[in-house]
Parts: sequence; C-alpha cells; structure tokens
Amino acid sequence: RSLLVLNGPNLNLLGTRKPETYGRTTLADVEALAREAAAAHEMDVAFLQSNHEGELLDAIHAARGVHAGIVINPGAYSHTSIALPDALEAVQPLPVVEVHISNVHRREAFRHHSYVSAQADAVIIGAGVHGYALAVEHLAHLLADVS
Ligand code: DQA
Repeated sequence: RSLLVLNGPNLNLLGTRKPETYGRTTLADVEALAREAAAAHEMDVAFLQSNHEGELLDAIHAARGVHAGIVINPGAYSHTSIALPDALEAVQPLPVVEVHISNVHRREAFRHHSYVSAQADAVIIGAGVHGYALAVEHLAHLLADVS
C-alpha cells in the first residue's frame, strides 16, 4: 500500500522560510519522516510538492486506485482554493488528513479558515513537522479498520 503526501506552495522553502514559524526542518527531512512513519506500517510514500494548484489537482485525481490515502498540506491554497476540496471530494472514499505545521489559529485571521478541512477526515494543526508523522499514523489506523 502507498500513501500520497502532498505539499502546496512555498513548502519547498521549508527550513529557511520563517523558521520561527515553520522550524528549521527541510522538506527533504519531512519526506524522510513521512517515509519512516509509513514504513512502520509497511506502507510506501509518494511525495510531491508543487507551487501550482493544477499540479496538486492532477496528483489528487491520479491517486484514485493507486494510493490508499492522502496527506495534504495545501499551504496558502487552504485559505483560497475551492478546487482542492472539490478534487478531494471527487476521489472519495480515499481518506485524507490535512496538515498545518504552524498553529494557524494563533496567526492572522485569514489563516483560520481552510476550505480543504471540509473534505478531510482529520486535520492536524500546530504540531510542527511531527504533524506529518501523526497524519501517516492516523491513515494507517483508518486503513487498518477497512482492510
Ligand atoms: C501552512 C499554514 C498556511 O497558512 C501557510 O500559507 C502555509 C503553511 C502550515 O503548514 O502551517 O504555507 O499550511
């Protein structure tokens, strides 16, 4: 089984971008920790970051029948995109866990609402990059119940 781990805009800059908010961990480190968390449950990870909404949409569409679940940090698209939650809805019943590294509720009001959350089975906010491991863990838990 494999999980699709998606990261949206600007997350390629993780480690150097606002480290006081997002930490010094790089996206390569996030990929390694997601792979490790998945491997503990005998799962593989397909890892993609894109600064382009359409590329994220294409990856979600292609996940059906290929991946068992999706972890997504939609970055700023969380607060603006209708297309991302529509795509996640379209590939149901694939389980989805949304991750935000920072505690968005402690930040600007425009970060408090995510359109994606309505299509997520769980949302992990403010746990830092550990949130990705928690997300993988939760998907493993959900998938164990249906296998
Ligand atoms: C983020 C929070 C968003 O508001 C922001 O635009 C990001 C990262 C997070 O992981 O905390 O790019 O999704």
